[in-house]
Amino acid sequence: MALISKRVIVTGGAGFLGSHLCERLLRDGCDVLCVDNYFTGRKDNIASMIGDSRFEAMRHDITFPLYVEVDEIYNLACPASPIHYQYDPVQTTKTSVIGAINMLGLAKRTGAKILQASTSEVYGDPVVHPQDEDYRGNVNPLGPRACYDEGKRCAETLFFDYRRQHAARIKVARIFNTYGPRMHPNDGRVVSNFIVQALRGEDITLFGDGSQTRAFCYVDDLVDGFVRLMNTADEFTGPLNLGNPHEIAVSELAQHVIRLTGSQSRIVYRELPQDDPRQRCPDISRARKALGWEPRVPLDEGLMRTIAYFDRMLTLSGGRAKSPETAAT
Ligand SMILES: NC(=O)c1ccc[n+]([C@@H]2O[C@H](COP(=O)([O-])OP(=O)(O)OC[C@H]3O[C@@H](n4cnc5c(N)ncnc54)[C@H](O)[C@@H]3O)[C@@H](O)[C@H]2O)c1
Repeated sequence: MALISKRVIVTGGAGFLGSHLCERLLRDGCDVLCVDNYFTGRKDNIASMIGDSRFEAMRHDITFPLYVEVDEIYNLACPASPIHYQYDPVQTTKTSVIGAINMLGLAKRTGAKILQASTSEVYGDPVVHPQDEDYRGNVNPLGPRACYDEGKRCAETLFFDYRRQHAARIKVARIFNTYGPRMHPNDGRVVSNFIVQALRGEDITLFGDGSQTRAFCYVDDLVDGFVRLMNTADEFTGPLNLGNPHEIAVSELAQHVIRLTGSQSRIVYRELPQDDPRQRCPDISRARKALGWEPRVPLDEGLMRTIAYFDRMLTLSGGRAKSPETAAT
């Protein structure tokens, strides 16, 4: 075992993906600094790590510079769901762009490796299917999703310019839909929405006719991809798609959730939001080759773990629907 642990920063470390990544890094023996402004992150997400001498949580907004010593930076800070990133779109773009500049500046000063949590949204509403990393995307720069999509695209540009101009040691991961315990219960993302509605016995809302497809990666698989990407040689920068290529229609996902929760919920249909992509599926050939990585957790298993999490959360908060038998008495 090394005498000195690697010092790693996770921005957005109190969020859904960030908190799982912090746990994984602690298990790997790293010294972890979680940096978060708690806009969508929650202290509950990191509660189990508080008290670990190798874990430190810092309230900080990455649109302001940060001066610490560090070996690796995972830059995850940014609201990720449309409800949250459209709440204050200017701040969303600032977090992506100014946040990237600040974290790249820190990487430049310390010589740290830096990994950007980019997104499949850089492909916009894709006309190429599945999307590989050479596809340049079809993004509407003026619509309500642009603060996120264009912010992430600009962050990628900054990463590659810092590499060309300052020899920064960069890695860019383009994340596709990921789900698991600690997703925010009210963020409107399809997996958490369906599960919470099913557990509460409410109608399950499907936008459009439900034939639009998505591909869902379980959080542990994604986090493993992050760590493998960070550990690649400096010449390897990405961008690299990380996600699960198993594509299903959103209506089929709703059926899975109803079956696994044993819910009595009905499916109701609503109008599709503006610029919602019809299809989303990663081509992960490059990640398979470069990282020897691919998702391992089957959808039903990942859904069961996620359902168990939301079930506990709703039971504790008193928001769980009564089962039909109990309700009848
Ligand atoms: N979950 C997914 O399916 C998915 C898909 C594509 C990309 N991503 C990217 O992964 C990253 C993490 O996503 P997530 O799903 O965990 O979302 P999340 O909202 O749970 O986590 C984001 C975290 O960043 C923090 N944050 C936001 N603005 C900040 C700021 N200015 N300074 C400091 N902290 C700030 C939030 O408080 C939160 O803890 C995001 O960058 C997101 O764009 C996620």
